[in-house]
Amino acid sequence: MSDQQILCRCLGIPRKTVEQAIDIFSAETIEEVARMTEAGTGCMCCRCKIKDLIQERKAMAKQLELA
Ligand code: FES
Repeated sequence: MSDQQILCRCLGIPRKTVEQAIDIFSAETIEEVARMTEAGTGCMCCRCKIKDLIQERKAMAKQLELA
């Protein structure tokens, strides 16, 4: 999935915006991401993608800490 790809189609929120909410603003839950970006506040179909992205970014951050 590219950074320019839209993660939330209802609101037109790019994946990059959600990544920034997680990486820079420390969003740790779907609800925090939704509050910060509005992603996942429409049909909610993208919430599983947001959850996966939170887990992916946390795992990446943990690996960087260990390196
Ligand atoms: S696709 Fe994100 S709320 Fe519908």
